[in-house]
Amino acid sequence: MAGGVNFLRGRGRRFERALEKLDRLADFTNSGEVDLVVFSGDFTAMGTRAEFATARAAIQPFVTSPAEFVCVAGNHDLYTRTVVREKRFETTFEGLLETDLPEARVDGPWPIVRLFGDNVAIVALNSAKPNPIPWRSSGLIPPRQLEAMRSVLGRPEIEDRFVFIVTHYAPCLEDGSPDTPAHGLENAEEFLRACAGVGCGAILCGHVHRTYRTRLPAIEPEIFCAGSATMHELEGFWMYDVEDGHLTAHRGSWTRDGYEVEPGEAHLRPEGGAKE
Ligand SMILES: [Fe+2]
Repeated sequence: MAGGVNFLRGRGRRFERALEKLDRLADFTNSGEVDLVVFSGDFTAMGTRAEFATARAAIQPFVTSPAEFVCVAGNHDLYTRTVVREKRFETTFEGLLETDLPEARVDGPWPIVRLFGDNVAIVALNSAKPNPIPWRSSGLIPPRQLEAMRSVLGRPEIEDRFVFIVTHYAPCLEDGSPDTPAHGLENAEEFLRACAGVGCGAILCGHVHRTYRTRLPAIEPEIFCAGSATMHELEGFWMYDVEDGHLTAHRGSWTRDGYEVEPGEAHLRPEGGAKE
């Protein structure tokens, strides 16, 4: 009920053109330059059946595009215990939650592990859960998923690849500080510790409605928050290019009638240095 009030009081209006924007984003994806699309969650507002049906139809152009598709659930997609019990997310995205290492799964479809070409791997974890207390929207990666990720990262199929670790919740904010207990990832420190040794990789997330990148001291992979692809005045995404184990990232934005990538590489800032 609290989510419904929040939606009607303004959140919904900020996504009024979401379907049109997704169509334009699919145009961008289908331009031929994109090999893989990663959605970092929150396809719906409250995980209703109608919302899931709309979301599934809206992502169809991405699913049928030549680019591969990987997604994780957001907290809005696992909004209530009923939504989780009925497995609405898993049912809606059936066929899109496949993994190349089924033996690594420990929690429903998670972690999802995908191997692309001979140089890229994705490890996708679920950090979303229902929050029955209305003022909380925090997340948690179950420890068994973290343990499975540690094990996957040590496997020979993964070792020499650039690894994108994907989950909905941002492990930190743009300035590197933790998100609030009511909104953030409850076990962000454990998650970051589990990722710390990934020498060649990046952490991709969402949940925070800002497109940013940040690097933490002693944590090797850089953190990229996609923000929201469709939220009014905050539309954004990241486009990545991996070559010879080196990542370049370009910020994408909305230009009233389409998406474009901002010119020039958004340069990596020095480790432990100031924000870009
Ligand atoms: Fe979220």
